[in-house]
Amino acid sequence: MKKLPIVVLISGRGSNLKAIIDAKDPLVEIKAVISNKPQAGGLLLARQANIKTEVLDKFTTKLEFDQALQNCIDKYQPKLIVLAGFMRILSPDFVNHYQGYMINIHPSLLPAFKGLNTHKRALEAKVKQHGATVHFVTAELDAGPIIIQAQVPVYPDDNEDILATRVLNEEHRIYPQAIHWFAEERLQLHGQQVLLDNQPIEVSNENF
Ligand code: GRF
Repeated sequence: MKKLPIVVLISGRGSNLKAIIDAKDPLVEIKAVISNKPQAGGLLLARQANIKTEVLDKFTTKLEFDQALQNCIDKYQPKLIVLAGFMRILSPDFVNHYQGYMINIHPSLLPAFKGLNTHKRALEAKVKQHGATVHFVTAELDAGPIIIQAQVPVYPDDNEDILATRVLNEEHRIYPQAIHWFAEERLQLHGQQVLLDNQPIEVSNENF
């Protein structure tokens, strides 16, 4: 089977990027890592793994940035765009351009806790279960069709750091898994429906 060319977009430390690199998926080739922050730790991880890196931080308007990002991505002709802690809201035009080919990981059990500070909000809400979600990216923030979720328990004496670490461990498992399904050509987006092996995906059972 041909390798799936992907690009990974980051803004920070890049632990999800590392999990994708460390997975050494024979069906996946990371063509480039693109960051909007020159100091993102993930850039170093990419360079250590001999992956090309790009930094886009010199743009004044959102339109200019999105255009430059699109040009940069398209240079690598990826078949999948992987957002891994990419902290910028992308314009609807940009997102629609890559519909069905762009995925994101979010640190909550969506649709719960969209947006930022998910672990803090989960603790404040005293939920018993928290987790992470991989989803296709659509124009509405953190609302795209769900590919896979992982649940973790929340314990009464948890703090944000402990809970974040527990969730992150699961992120590092499910993101490479979702990318692998895509590389195997088993995963598709049909309208708002995610299909795995041409069947509507069952999100709650993790599909293992
Ligand atoms: C992760 O929690 C991810 O779910 C969220 O941003 C964080 C990125 O962490 N979108 P890292 O840079 O992959 O370590």
